[in-house]
Amino acid sequence: MSLDRRGETQYLYTYKRIWTPIFACASVAVAQTASAYCDSTSGICYQGYSDPVMNMTIGLVFPPLSTPPSDEYMVQMVAPASFGWSGLSVGGTMADSLLFTLWPYNDQIMLGTRWTSGYVLPDPYAGPKITLLPDSTVNSTHIKASFRCQNCTVWQDGSIGGGDLNSFQLIAYVASYTTKVADPSNIDSSMQEHDAFNFFGLDLTTVHDSSYNSYIGSSASSSTVAPSSTTPASSSAPPATSTSAAPSAAQSAYGQCGGTGWTGPTACASGFTCTELNDYYSQCTPS
Ligand code: HEM
Repeated sequence: MSLDRRGETQYLYTYKRIWTPIFACASVAVAQTASAYCDSTSGICYQGYSDPVMNMTIGLVFPPLSTPPSDEYMVQMVAPASFGWSGLSVGGTMADSLLFTLWPYNDQIMLGTRWTSGYVLPDPYAGPKITLLPDSTVNSTHIKASFRCQNCTVWQDGSIGGGDLNSFQLIAYVASYTTKVADPSNIDSSMQEHDAFNFFGLDLTTVHDSSYNSYIGSSASSSTVAPSSTTPASSSAPPATSTSAAPSAAQSAYGQCGGTGWTGPTACASGFTCTELNDYYSQCTPS
């Protein structure tokens, strides 16, 4: 490694260490738990979260519970068009999770799947079948990817809800605010580390939608890269779902109860214990 390269690495490390706590602190006013919203263009209703600091919206919707369980769900990712790239981890961590990367390339939506075992550039990950939905769009302000993901509940070394689609899943998302990927025309492009990340809790008992099959009817194409609509998205981002946490009240089932910068409730409702999932997120889990 050259001297210049070491200097750059040190800079990125310092930047991350300084800014991560600031982003974490800035989001303490919200109870980071998913709530319902419906996309006004597609009519699809998701359980999701709009992050007022990172300016990203993430939503998920699953088919009704079945035996054997379905291996698919739909996801919506909305981010400012100015971002270099954004990402999603449906396993809630960078390592051993199914990851999605997203950026615009001209009027195209570049949506890829990745996987890594550690804090290094994630590799492209084959297996998931992605189908972009027609409301996906890139315009001057936003990129919105709404997609069906099949073969996506189980991946290398992990699964949604730890294999129980009626339990809980921590969802994580990341952003590179200005730095683009090395080659935006290539869905497998390398990239530098993100500038920020955050989490929200997803109660899987709330994500199963009896309208799911009708949502599939609106699927557009089965390519990983689809041309976007030329019509501007109409208010694609739902309003922020912030709710002030009452510090004195006990946190409800599966709510956040701790983590770096968290100032909300740290005690859990009866029958639940505050369990640390990572430095940034502790959660009330069944005792
Ligand atoms: C070259 C590319 C990347 C590098 C070098 C990198 C590196 C890192 C590092 C060092 C952390 C820990 C930060 C901290 O604790 O302050 C981290 C966290 C995280 N990264 Fe990445 N990352 C990369 C790309 C990605 C991508 C593409 C995704 C998702 C699409 C992602 C998702 C996450 C998530 C969700 C976290 C927070 C949760 C956790 O610590 O596991 N990363 N990354």
